[in-house]
Amino acid sequence: MGEKPSNTAAGLAAAAASDVDEITGHRRMRRTRVTDWSRRLTRETRLTVDDLVWPIFVVPGTNVLEPIKAMPGVNRMSVDRAVEAARMAADLGIPALATFPNVEMDKRDDTGSHILAPDNLINQTTRAIKQAVPTIGIITDVALDPFTSHGHDGILRDGEILNDETVRQIAAGAVHQADAGADIIAPSDMMDGRIGAIRRALDAAGHHNVAVMSYATKFASACYGPYREAIGTSGLLKGDKRTYYLDPANAVEAIRDAGMDVEEGADMLMVKPGLPYLDICRALKDTYGLPTFAYQVSGEYSMIKAGDAAGYIDGERVMMEKLLAFKRAGCDGILTYFAPEAARLLAKGGW
Ligand code: PBG
Repeated sequence: MGEKPSNTAAGLAAAAASDVDEITGHRRMRRTRVTDWSRRLTRETRLTVDDLVWPIFVVPGTNVLEPIKAMPGVNRMSVDRAVEAARMAADLGIPALATFPNVEMDKRDDTGSHILAPDNLINQTTRAIKQAVPTIGIITDVALDPFTSHGHDGILRDGEILNDETVRQIAAGAVHQADAGADIIAPSDMMDGRIGAIRRALDAAGHHNVAVMSYATKFASACYGPYREAIGTSGLLKGDKRTYYLDPANAVEAIRDAGMDVEEGADMLMVKPGLPYLDICRALKDTYGLPTFAYQVSGEYSMIKAGDAAGYIDGERVMMEKLLAFKRAGCDGILTYFAPEAARLLAKGGW
């Protein structure tokens, strides 16, 4: 059979190209991807330092900087060191810190009563940071788990986590945290009615401008392990938290649960853990339109660090990709142990 002159390389290429043009109707998604300037021009979401909240761990004492084995690069700090860290974070432009205390074992009891001590470690930390670095925001977790002898977020009696007594306790604890200068109260316990109770207690105490960020959808996740080492609850916890945290299988229930927090007066919502729950992030943002945050939790952090240390992944690029994913999913910000590292990279540019 006599072949036509189009059976040359150039001819075949032209034929293939026109096939593709026919297929796509001359639309070519790759056109905007050709150059760096064009990729920058068409980029839809951006991660900036303004999106970062840095969770830190505090211990009693002075001049203590204690590495956390399960969280490479993260330390427990005494209050004086936490103040230095706050100053560094403010200099990097990080808007806010979230503080978590590791209190002495002899201060922990069945009911987490030490949360009611006005000068407990978390409140000391807030006062010291507010005095030295007044420009940085302080978000305090008002859960009982750092203060209970059993590591649960609620008052435990006869094998049951008591909802209503726990709510009263944390609402009172929230007022002490606000008295100490906390800007945002963030309850992470998942008791029913806690958002409304905290709002009422704050308002009754004159703290109208103290906001409530609800850990609205907190799932019974396997990703909290390193955090429990960090605050010393891993050895204490008996059983699990499935009678109060959300089942990882349930998205509709998560949206209903967050809806109650919105009705009760939450100013901001949080999804926790982060990356496995991006569908929830998107749903909450689209449904309620509140400022929405993801908590990239300890296990998520440590997995990236471990993969990087083993040489399996480029930890820096994986970190930045995952943080950006939260923005794409509709989050306004991310609580992340990577905050200073990411802030430094963002300041260098090129991300
Ligand atoms: C509990 C609490 C948890 C975290 C913060 N506060 C979870 C838990 O121990 O059940 C986890 C944070 C992390 O893993 O980074 N109130």
